[in-house]
Amino acid sequence: MIFETKVMGHRGAAKLAPENTLASISAAANAGTQWVEIDVTIAADGLVIFHDTTLDRCSNDSGPVQTKSIAELKKLDVGSWFSPNFNNETIPTLAEALNHIQSLGLSLNLEIKCAQKDVENIVPEVIKQLSHHWKDTSKLCISSFNKDVLIAVRDIDNDLRLSQIYKDIPDDWSETLSNIQAFSLNCDYQLLQKETAIAIKKAGYLLFCYTANEPELVQEHWQWGMDAVITDDPITFFNSGIK
Ligand code: G3P
Ligand code: MG
Repeated sequence: MIFETKVMGHRGAAKLAPENTLASISAAANAGTQWVEIDVTIAADGLVIFHDTTLDRCSNDSGPVQTKSIAELKKLDVGSWFSPNFNNETIPTLAEALNHIQSLGLSLNLEIKCAQKDVENIVPEVIKQLSHHWKDTSKLCISSFNKDVLIAVRDIDNDLRLSQIYKDIPDDWSETLSNIQAFSLNCDYQLLQKETAIAIKKAGYLLFCYTANEPELVQEHWQWGMDAVITDDPITFFNSGIK
């Protein structure tokens, strides 16, 4: 299978606009990106797009995300830390992000982030919201570092594309991917070995590597079979001729 793009935006396009905001998703689209990755996590009363477990790095507040209501989170500025030009950016709810991504004609790699204790809460809610708000499942994959998240998704839905994320790829990757009938393996480009990449491709999975922001860093990965790079900076890849 040939994947439709070689360049997937990371957290929208995190080099171009504050990560995981609607502006970041728009920036990815404006750059010509077809696929974006964003992170969904759990707040006190719903699902929001945010990478960290705490608000400290990417907002004008601090402390855990999970104890705040969506109404409280919506009051925060999540753009000024990146640049004063983005001081109106707020944390998107999952529904807002899904609608925005579709309005731009993009495809979505939705990464589910949650603590182990929240797996049984977050997964049914994500699936419910996708069924209400996302129209074309051929333009969607669900990814997670947590294999129990992906098992729980697969228990609910037979067809959704699932992507197992790894930092360092463990020896049992083949069994884990086979158990969930995975679509892809997404791994840290810095830790990927040629032999493992070749084995992943031989087993029939797509191979995506995060988070490389310069084409030279993944030059040999294309020869190993990497299908797409997940990058904060899609423009640099497009300018280098990678599409
Ligand atoms: O999905 C690839 C990448 O987003 C995983 O790492 O920490 O950026 O969510 P992180
Ligand atoms: Mg992510």
